[in-house]
Amino acid sequence: MLYPLARSLLFRLDPETAHTLSLQALDRAARCGLVSPGQVIHTRPRTVMGLNFANPLGIAAGLDKNATCIAGLGALGVGFIEVGTVTPRPQNGNPRPRVFRLPEVEGLINRLGFNNHGVDALVEMVKERNYDGVLGINLGKNFDTPLEQAAADYLAGLRRVAPYADYVTINISSPNTQNLRQLQGNDTLPPLLRALHDERQRLEQTRGRPLPIAIKIAPDLNESALDDIARILVEEKMDAVIATNTTLSRDDITGQPHAQEAGGLSGAPLHARSVEVVSHLARTLSGALPIIGVGGITSASRAQAMLEAGASLIQVYTGLIYRGPPLIEEILATDRP
Ligand SMILES: Cc1cc2nc3c(=O)[nH]c(=O)nc-3n(C[C@H](O)[C@H](O)[C@H](O)COP(=O)(O)O)c2cc1C
Repeated sequence: MLYPLARSLLFRLDPETAHTLSLQALDRAARCGLVSPGQVIHTRPRTVMGLNFANPLGIAAGLDKNATCIAGLGALGVGFIEVGTVTPRPQNGNPRPRVFRLPEVEGLINRLGFNNHGVDALVEMVKERNYDGVLGINLGKNFDTPLEQAAADYLAGLRRVAPYADYVTINISSPNTQNLRQLQGNDTLPPLLRALHDERQRLEQTRGRPLPIAIKIAPDLNESALDDIARILVEEKMDAVIATNTTLSRDDITGQPHAQEAGGLSGAPLHARSVEVVSHLARTLSGALPIIGVGGITSASRAQAMLEAGASLIQVYTGLIYRGPPLIEEILATDRP
């Protein structure tokens, strides 16, 4: 009952302001004890990447880029939270406006461009973490780091967050950092992953426990590119694949206001493609690597579709903007396995 009211007020504001206000309100509610911080809901627990998840539902990267709202988001009951994308140095991202709502189709276009406070600031926040669920930290490269030196940025991030992350995600699929997606290619991906795996092995010695690495991929890849990526991830000993990031395709939103804005499209119009990618990966991988499914989960039935396509875990972002916290309750209340 409350969220539709809050939403009609929030939707009068520009999307970024509404986002900041919502996170601040959630964080204050958690700090004041209005919602209990870090109360993970135990339902359909599972072990993925060697980590124990109290339930399969998580918050996708980008919602809490600077890890300022872990307690508030944790209070929603999710089994895991992925903070970031964070880059080694702070950066402002692209000029505003850079987020656009498409309410008729429950979609969103963003071209934020990894605006974040930098990895040092993020680490200060995660040190104080008050959340019992699994915490992932999503890493990117700075916009002005040449693509040939991208590995150095990811390695710097990995070293910095290793003591605090339950798992790390390597984001090579944002459409808003020039040429980033080229890192998904057959020539570029293996050396990057090899360097990350070597470094992770070194870090695990001081950390004293495994440091799983997940790779986040784009939905705009054809079947043969997906097959290549699946093979490379297994060969290079990665721990999970996250499918998918936002899409550059506008096929399903022609004629919608803002459809021609540059950036990545998320939400309901992305769902069918994300499910298709997950089910293709599930067939190709046949259990060799777990899949974290994300894209357009705006209802319990869409969450179920993603799990049935072969995802071991699922994440939400845009669905939360349109449906609010009741979406999480609805998904977690579903009693199917
Ligand atoms: C405003 C916005 C910012 C995002 N920022 C990031 C990010 O920093 N890193 C990342 O890996 N994904 C980012 N994403 C992608 C989401 O994590 C997710 O993969 C995608 O939006 C599809 O899920 P959804 O349809 O539930 O939103 C962002 C998405 C949105 C809408």
